[in-house]
Amino acid sequence: MSIFKSLYMTHFREKWASKVKTSIHSSNPQPFTLGELEELMGEPLLTLSADTVLGYGSDLGYQPLRQAVSGQLYPDLHSDNLLTTTGAQEGIYISMHALLNRGDKVIAFTPIFEPLIATAQRIGCAVELLPLDSNNSWQIDLQRLEESIDDKTRMVIINYPHNPTGTLLSKEALEAIIALCRQHDIWLFLDEVFRGLEHKPEDRLPAVAEHYEKGISLGVLSKSLGLPTIRVGWLACQNQAFLKQCKTVRSYLSICNDQLGERAATVVIQHAEAIFDYYRQHLLANYALLDEFKRITPEIDFYPPKGGCTVFAKLAVDSEQFAEKLVKETGLLVIPNQAFCAEENAIRLGFGGVDYEKHLAMFTSVF
Ligand SMILES: Cc1ncc(COP(=O)(O)O)c(C=O)c1O
Repeated sequence: MSIFKSLYMTHFREKWASKVKTSIHSSNPQPFTLGELEELMGEPLLTLSADTVLGYGSDLGYQPLRQAVSGQLYPDLHSDNLLTTTGAQEGIYISMHALLNRGDKVIAFTPIFEPLIATAQRIGCAVELLPLDSNNSWQIDLQRLEESIDDKTRMVIINYPHNPTGTLLSKEALEAIIALCRQHDIWLFLDEVFRGLEHKPEDRLPAVAEHYEKGISLGVLSKSLGLPTIRVGWLACQNQAFLKQCKTVRSYLSICNDQLGERAATVVIQHAEAIFDYYRQHLLANYALLDEFKRITPEIDFYPPKGGCTVFAKLAVDSEQFAEKLVKETGLLVIPNQAFCAEENAIRLGFGGVDYEKHLAMFTSVF
């Protein structure tokens, strides 16, 4: 029997794979075609020559890429504070295996991207899940967090801009969480894969790795940069012992990243701000359609998002049954709350895709 339990989202997608024609749940904006991306960047994604060496990469990651990421996204960090990973998933896996042991307590908040807690649970940690309050715009209850911290607490896990609710953390709340973690000497893992997609650019938070010596920032090309084909992510942290331990864990997995991916990522990162701006315009235009859809559809309700391209829409009918009926009858895939370890009767609705009006119309036919 495998020690890896199937994640709900994977299970749900596999169960309905033969029925799915299209989807409206994706957490990332519609990925670019190569032509669109190169037009936006004004340069080729990859320039290779006959003498390009096709060898292994360095264990921290391609130096020009780490320099580009620190220069563009983390001005207070140095390239040596970064370790590149194969997607964000590998970053989650290796950082938790680097830091956590059986019996450690980990605190996280639901709804949540399931691998963030499943990984710690698999290691044997006691994961305490604190629900974000949908009646309080999905904000973290700081007092509840403080009460949950005890001597065994080793890590707090948060994710902002938040998948699936689209909420942001205020600077004050981040500072308060950092202060609590510092006081109790706890690691703060901040999944920042949607950073850059704040609907108002001025709402972007400083990266936790820049402001807390035990803060870990997770980033990736697949989410706010919308390029999952390039399986490149990174971990940023001031603590060198942590990065060294991550390298050790990674030596059991990918060893180093795909070098063509890292070169392509280096070019993309130089254009990160232009890509964020492009996506922001696209997703806000879709959001206007979704907002109007909510106004005329009494069966759904959601808190207006402030970042990313998903909402967590509460339903008047059972969410899992609804999602199954929708995919069976129309071929349209949405993901119910069980995938986010949340009790609210809700589905994740994305608004980063194309043909959005058409997709929303398919949705209505099942109510
Ligand atoms: C919050 C969050 N973190 C991490 C990831 C993993 O990203 P990737 O699939 O690129 O590894 C996802 C993917 O949806 C996500 O939503």
